[in-house]
Amino acid sequence: MQPKRHALANQKGGVGKTATTLGLASAISHRGGRALIVDMDPQANATEGLGIYTEDGQLTTADLMDRTEAGSAIDAVVATDWNGIDLVPSHLDLSNAESSGASDLVFRLDVAFEGLDLSPYDAVLFDCPPSLGKLLFAVLLTVDSVYAITEPTKDSVKGVTRLETTVQKVKLRPNPRLELSKIIISRRQNKGEHIDRERELREAYGDLVARTVIPDLGARQDAHSAEIPMHKFRGGRALSLQVAYDDLLDELGITIGANA
Ligand SMILES: Nc1ncnc2c1ncn2[C@@H]1O[C@H](COP(=O)(O)OP(=O)(O)O)[C@@H](O)[C@H]1O
Ligand SMILES: [Mg+2]
Repeated sequence: MQPKRHALANQKGGVGKTATTLGLASAISHRGGRALIVDMDPQANATEGLGIYTEDGQLTTADLMDRTEAGSAIDAVVATDWNGIDLVPSHLDLSNAESSGASDLVFRLDVAFEGLDLSPYDAVLFDCPPSLGKLLFAVLLTVDSVYAITEPTKDSVKGVTRLETTVQKVKLRPNPRLELSKIIISRRQNKGEHIDRERELREAYGDLVARTVIPDLGARQDAHSAEIPMHKFRGGRALSLQVAYDDLLDELGITIGANA
């Protein structure tokens, strides 16, 4: 069985897309599972967070967007030091895609994944760039499901509304299998605005909003800088983040060994 492909998206930057991608990868790794992370942000935060620094000539998502070749994504997959976690790394050159005039540009990522056997993986997670540009569209044409990541703040919540509209449009055509499957609140603090926005989101979207909330805790940045999985990090209330990512994995229905 092929695993579902999920995009972690919000055109607003700094809301926790990369942190949630790597947090879920950490939870999968901790359970002995396997995940493929596809870094579609030219800033390559997920790539570096997984301890990968690309070398000249190494294939990255920039190459996948630069050509049309069915199944070529497999050539760009590298293993990381995180047990069970593989990566298609990103490179700053990926930003060139936004200004490319190629008529088939937004279809190239889907073509790069065409026909691949991804059944060894329990999850395939696409970490998205912080804009509603061609790269995000390319991801939306390639995945089955979108997790909208949002901070409980006014601007990020507005981002969710716009993303929802975009998903609906892409679903009409050209990707009818696309679903907005969860809205995930991340970086939540116990303070006025955050509590109010969380309530508004839950009133507006009901069960679409994940019950699990990712708290804003210093351990996230420390673990990221150290390039190690949250589940191996000690201190800075890492345990609270480990529990949150474990709960989120369960809530999203990502199970280990289901595709074997
Ligand atoms: N749960 C969290 N607690 C504390 N800081 C966080 C958390 N999630 C993300 N951050 C920090 O916020 C910043 C932006 O997060 P990031 O995941 O890179 O956002 P995005 O990928 O949406 O741009 C980073 O410095 C990151 O370490
Ligand atoms: Mg990011």
